[in-house]
Formats: sequence, C-alpha cells, structure tokens
Amino acid sequence: MSTLLEVSGVSVTFDGFRAINNLSFQIGKAELRAIIGPNGAGKTTFMDIVTGKTRPDTGRVIWGDKSVSLLKMSEAQIARAGVGRKFQRPTVFEDQSVFDNLLLALKKDRGPFPVLFYRSSARDRERVEELAGEIGLADQLPRKSGELSHGQKQWLEIGMLLAQDPQLLLVDEPAAGMTLEEREHTTDLLVQAAKTRAVVVVEHDMEFVRRLNCKVTVLHEGAVLAEGGLDHVTANKDVIDVYLGR
Ligand SMILES: Nc1ncnc2c1ncn2[C@@H]1O[C@H](COP(=O)(O)OP(=O)(O)OP(=O)(O)O)[C@@H](O)[C@H]1O
Ligand SMILES: [Mg+2]
Repeated sequence: MSTLLEVSGVSVTFDGFRAINNLSFQIGKAELRAIIGPNGAGKTTFMDIVTGKTRPDTGRVIWGDKSVSLLKMSEAQIARAGVGRKFQRPTVFEDQSVFDNLLLALKKDRGPFPVLFYRSSARDRERVEELAGEIGLADQLPRKSGELSHGQKQWLEIGMLLAQDPQLLLVDEPAAGMTLEEREHTTDLLVQAAKTRAVVVVEHDMEFVRRLNCKVTVLHEGAVLAEGGLDHVTANKDVIDVYLGR
C-alpha cells in the first residue's frame, strides 16, 4: 500500500513535558487505522501536529504523492491539501437544515458568494443526497440540525467533512456519548468512508475498535508502543502493563 502520511521522529515538548517522543507513524491511502492508548498518551496531540495546530520541535511530517512537508503549511493549507478533522463537539449550524449544512460544506471555499444566497445546482443537490445516504441521514434532510440526536449531529459533521472529499479523515473519540446503536452505525460509516480515503480513529471504546476490524496503533508516552490487529496488541505484555498501570 502506498504511503499517504508519514510522521517520523517527531517530538513535542509542552513546558518541559515531552508529550510526543520521537513518534513515527505511517498511514496508507484508503487505510482505516485505530489509535488507542491511555489518557495523556499523545493521541490528540498527534492529530494537532498533522493538522498544523501544534508544531513539533523536531521530526518530519510528509504528505501525499509529492512528499510535501505539512510542517511548512498553515492549518488552512493543510485542510485544503486534503486533511479533514472531526472534533469531539459537533460544529453544525443548528438553525439550518441537514440539507443546508451539507450544501454549505460542499460549497465551502468556493468563491465569495454567501452560501445562503447560493442557488444549488441539480448536481449539488444530488451530491448532498448521496452524502446524506452515506451518513444515514437520508430521511432527515429537511430537519433542523438542532433537533437531531447527539449521534446524528456527529454523523452530520462527518458528512460535512466528507463533502470536502478529504484524502485523510482524522476522528477523535467519535463514540463518546453515543448509544450502542449509534456507535454501531458510526463504525459502519467510518469503515465505508475508509474505502475511498484514509481514516484515523482515536477511540477508547474497545468494542468500537473491534468492530472497525483494522490495524491498531497503541500510543503511550508519546510514542508507538505496539501495532497490529487488536487481538495482537492487547496480548502484548507492554500494552497490558500500561493498561493495568504497572
Ligand atoms: N497545549 C498543551 N499545553 C500543555 N500540555 C499539553 C497541551 N496539549 C497536550 N498537553 C499534554 O500532553 C499530553 C498528551 O495529551 P493528549 O491530549 O495528546 O493526550 P490523549 O492521548 O489525547 O489523551 P486522552 O485520551 O485523555 O484524550 C498530556 O499530558 C497533556 O496534558
Ligand atoms: Mg485526546
């Protein structure tokens, strides 16, 4: 599998505390990857580095076929280069319909016209319906987004990211606060999304990670502790020790 993102030898220190410690990590195109690890392992910081929010002290972050360095790019440039990130709190426009939120996301970065005055083309409407189908909200399009359940809002936000067609989607703890049923739908959605792009999911819920059925990277103290299938990494002695607090 060809590499989409390569992080190598990255370290970040916050006030003398080394949150990321010589981290190396690779992800292939259209790969689904789970990242697990105890609180403070550096999972969110890893995403902050890839998206340009946090700058490492050392190391390289190389992206795409042209092997460009993301470290030289602004957050906006990184997003435009094809890195989408989902934050834990959904940032949907609550007063707008599901349809309008998706349309807005589709039209983001496209010209100076205010989206509210924008007349959607038949192609756009088709694409919005397609996206709604992918996230399981096809029957919710006219609804005000503020009326959606917590899970539905999270899916809408994922749909809004997919509208931008990222090559890499970073998702931090998507299952938090979801019902079991919502979690199951979320795994299906992420598995589906990873068929055409790379998806990296940080999650504490092991049942959720199991359903993703993908390679797992265990982070601990800012570095990779183990990597492989979930059964493989959870049988690893170092991983067991870390999770048992030894
Ligand atoms: N901006 C910051 N300033 C100072 N310290 C930070 C900052 N961001 C993260 N840290 C510290 O870096 C370490 C790694 O934090 P990070 O949020 O990446 O962990 P995490 O693996 O996402 O944990 P969790 O599972 O709890 O979300 C923690 O000790 C955290 O307190
Ligand atoms: Mg975190």
